[in-house]
Amino acid sequence: MSRAADESIIADRTLAPEGRLKIDWVRAHMPVLNRIRERFEREQPFKGLRVAICLHVEAKTAYLAQVIHAGGAEVAITGSNPLSTQDDVCAALVESGITVFAKYNPDPREYKELLVRTLEMRPHLIIDDGGDLVTILHAERPDLIDQVRGGAEETTTGLLRLRAMERDGKLRFPMVAVNDAYCKYLFDNRYGTGQSVWDGINRTTNLVVAGKTVVVAGYGWGGKGGAMRARGLGARVIVTEVDAIKATEAYMDGFDVMTMREAAKVGDYFVTVSGNRDCIRGEHYEVMKNGAILANAGHFDVEINKPELEAMSVSRRTVRRNIEEFRLKDGRVLYLLAEGRLVNLAAGDGHPAEIMDMSFALQAMALKYVNEHHGEIGPRVVNVPYGIDEQVARLKLESLGKSIDTLSPGQKEYLDSWAAH
Ligand SMILES: NC(=O)c1ccc[n+]([C@@H]2O[C@H](COP(=O)([O-])OP(=O)(O)OC[C@H]3O[C@@H](n4cnc5c(N)ncnc54)[C@H](O)[C@@H]3O)[C@@H](O)[C@H]2O)c1
Repeated sequence: MSRAADESIIADRTLAPEGRLKIDWVRAHMPVLNRIRERFEREQPFKGLRVAICLHVEAKTAYLAQVIHAGGAEVAITGSNPLSTQDDVCAALVESGITVFAKYNPDPREYKELLVRTLEMRPHLIIDDGGDLVTILHAERPDLIDQVRGGAEETTTGLLRLRAMERDGKLRFPMVAVNDAYCKYLFDNRYGTGQSVWDGINRTTNLVVAGKTVVVAGYGWGGKGGAMRARGLGARVIVTEVDAIKATEAYMDGFDVMTMREAAKVGDYFVTVSGNRDCIRGEHYEVMKNGAILANAGHFDVEINKPELEAMSVSRRTVRRNIEEFRLKDGRVLYLLAEGRLVNLAAGDGHPAEIMDMSFALQAMALKYVNEHHGEIGPRVVNVPYGIDEQVARLKLESLGKSIDTLSPGQKEYLDSWAAH
């Protein structure tokens, strides 16, 4: 038996054929990553290295793991959310020689154990999503840190945690801020979240959005996408914010802006995407309409305060897959989707493949970059070099068959000069 097959902890190995089909489908729609895989196969940038990956284990991440593996690395992968792991994809990954520590819906203790098992491979490089692997390494298992050269972080929330570690002088190796690259947040956070959040909500509820009132909490890149696509579905959209500039932007983009306290009374759907806790809480449940639907798209399940919802409810029951009904004392019911976890991943397939093609192309190239430059970077959070970002955009345009103009020498000189124009 291969090492991957020997050591992996997954739900059911017989599901591999279905998982393989899912991976084949996304691979056919990830041309940028395909180009990088070809390059990695030739150049073997990760030969002899161990790479630990913590991402939502579904088909697109599976393909990223295979691309890193094709670059010569021994790869172990674990889930970045207990509800987003797809068991058939896990089985297909093991079959392709990747060690998997992930299964759908493990209890919190087991979920943590799977993260730790992944780190016990003693990785040289890390891909993290939300900062769990890096935080556990530093806070609980520093015995596994010495050989780590660096890593790359996928999302806004993970970067907040990494920057806090860096500020406190605790970070011990370089981490590349993949989330902050243009080819990540402009497309993944905005268009990816915009489409997949509504895909997750719609397939879960099977209810109409047109004519309803949608409240989006947070008007960052994810919120912009969620609000834009809600409008496209025919909803009236309200944005809540704590940042005056973002709120003004939302207003100028044509959305209504108000406090959550006001919005709570009128919303039919609520979507939190702030990266912050308690955006929706007891005082809001008090005034919500009967039948309001609550969904979260932020990284952690803290944006909708679940303990307060539970405490205010006289009963709760699952009324449909991924929909829990909470009955309040006055008889109103509120529906919570996917336990308040990322609705697009816990109740859907996540972002479209063409979007993750760019995010994961950045991940693959950022990992190669940090491996080659970790000594000079030192223990810091660094941006993806602009050249890598630009290369991903160029590969994307190439795959779309689109060309752009180039600056003439005269135009270059004009842009670079300060003398009278
Ligand atoms: N579901 C997904 O697939 C997906 C994709 C990308 C990012 N994310 C996650 O979504 C969250 C947001 O990411 P982003 O890139 O949009 O971040 P961002 O920093 O661009 O935007 C967050 C916005 O929320 C606002 N905010 C903070 N506290 C608030 C509050 N109490 N009420 C209302 N607004 C508040 C901030 O002012 C900011 O404008 C993060 O947790 C991120 O990790 C999820």
